[in-house]
Amino acid sequence: MSARVIVREAEVGDGTADLALLDDGERARAGRKRDAAPFVTGHALVRRTLGDLLGRDPASLSFERRCTTCRSELHGKPSLVDAPGWHFSLSYTSSLAVVAVAEGTDVGVDTEDLTDADFEGFADATLAREEIRGFEGLDGCDLLIARARVWARKEAILKATGHGLVVDPSEVLVSSPLDPPELLAWRAEEPAPPAVSLVDLDLTTANHRAAVAGLTDQPLEILGT
Ligand SMILES: CC(C)(COP(=O)(O)OP(=O)(O)OC[C@H]1O[C@@H](n2cnc3c(N)ncnc32)[C@H](O)[C@@H]1OP(=O)(O)O)[C@@H](O)C(=O)NCCC(=O)NCCS
Repeated sequence: MSARVIVREAEVGDGTADLALLDDGERARAGRKRDAAPFVTGHALVRRTLGDLLGRDPASLSFERRCTTCRSELHGKPSLVDAPGWHFSLSYTSSLAVVAVAEGTDVGVDTEDLTDADFEGFADATLAREEIRGFEGLDGCDLLIARARVWARKEAILKATGHGLVVDPSEVLVSSPLDPPELLAWRAEEPAPPAVSLVDLDLTTANHRAAVAGLTDQPLEILGT
């Protein structure tokens, strides 16, 4: 048995058709962004993908949020209203949006632009001491790819659980960048998820890396990339 996850990606565009799909709350949020286009592309991608899968008008879908940490309904992991059992996760950068959808499995997706992994202090901010070994000997583009891959794995897990960066990513140990993706240890105070399956995504763009996590012990079957 495997858990099916539908993944779609979209390049950030000018957003005119996308904006028409968003509800008033999303439009208001978009209006507060310095660059609204990634937000608009991402949220329209969520609506189109869920609309296709559920056979509903994308513009008619309603979402709610709940914070895993403080239970607030003003922020936190979003979910669909009136579609119990369906889970999704959204990630976007300035140029790309990715959505993952699954029925019956909590999912998290994260995508990282390689250029965003190009900063001093990456290891201090994200890695446990024993994870640093997996980056030895890597430099240039290979180093950025390795960083983006590992960062995406960690954040995908934390988006699947709903903790986000409330949990320090250095307390979520994943396999070395050149090894198959896997959660190796959960050292955070917050309760560990009972099971995690992790997949590196093959995106159509070369300058990003991405991962999907599912809270299941079944392997993930990725469809639709
Ligand atoms: C979730 C988080 C890691 C995403 O960060 P990011 O890399 O900048 O953004 P991404 O593009 O990958 O993902 C953004 C999307 O993740 C989703 N998201 C937001 N919070 C989430 C959470 N706690 N869990 C899962 N997904 C979440 C939303 O769809 C969000 O898009 P939106 O902001 O346009 O609605 C980050 O926003 C975070 O850590 N949030 C938690 C902070 C928090 O909850 N603080 C208060 C605790 S009381």
